[in-house]
Amino acid sequence: MKRDDKKTSDEQKKDDVTQGMTRRGFLTTVGTGAVTLVVADRLHASPAAEAEMTERGEMAKVTLQINGRTYRLLVEPRWSLLYVLREGLGLTGTKVGCERGECGACNVLIDDVPRYACMTLAVEAEGRKITTLEGLMQGEELGPVQQAFREHDAFQCGYCTPGQIMSVEGLLRKNPKPSLEEVRQGVSGNLCRCGAYKHIFSAAQKASELKR
Ligand code: FES
Ligand code: FES
Repeated sequence: MKRDDKKTSDEQKKDDVTQGMTRRGFLTTVGTGAVTLVVADRLHASPAAEAEMTERGEMAKVTLQINGRTYRLLVEPRWSLLYVLREGLGLTGTKVGCERGECGACNVLIDDVPRYACMTLAVEAEGRKITTLEGLMQGEELGPVQQAFREHDAFQCGYCTPGQIMSVEGLLRKNPKPSLEEVRQGVSGNLCRCGAYKHIFSAAQKASELKR
């Protein structure tokens, strides 16, 4: 694909996704529940058509397990998991911050362990269990960690909050009753520019109680 030199790389990537989804079937979702089925015929196209698609767009097939659903996708190997979650699947609970592994805004759980989605390629996440902020909901209700953050005012602007929640969720899955020091360690990969740390620590300890 010929690149437009005047576009930033983010603008170009967004164009790539849009073109892929609408013209060449970038995305097919197949789930265990009621999942939107998008241009399914494209992924099941003839081998010749698929070969052409792969060559022209340098797309790779990947199957991701996200929040208990299975998504079969065509992605470029260079796309981050963060990019695919937000721009491809509309899971915008995962936030874009520094995009270089420093802030933690993009945290998701991979096999129950917090990971920066900006530093994880979508193709690397194949076969792993991915949990995003949306996956912590219990139907229409907030999950325990989300509830605890709300009750303890553990945010100001709220931008870092999804990443903080995912870190606390990951911590509690591994260690259901952490000490204050363990909570501090557990969220040490998340930056909060508003300085809500004291409330975040309290919320984490409350969440530990709620989960028991
Ligand atoms: S956006 Fe991923 S660590 Fe900052
Ligand atoms: S609540 Fe604003 S950055 Fe953390």
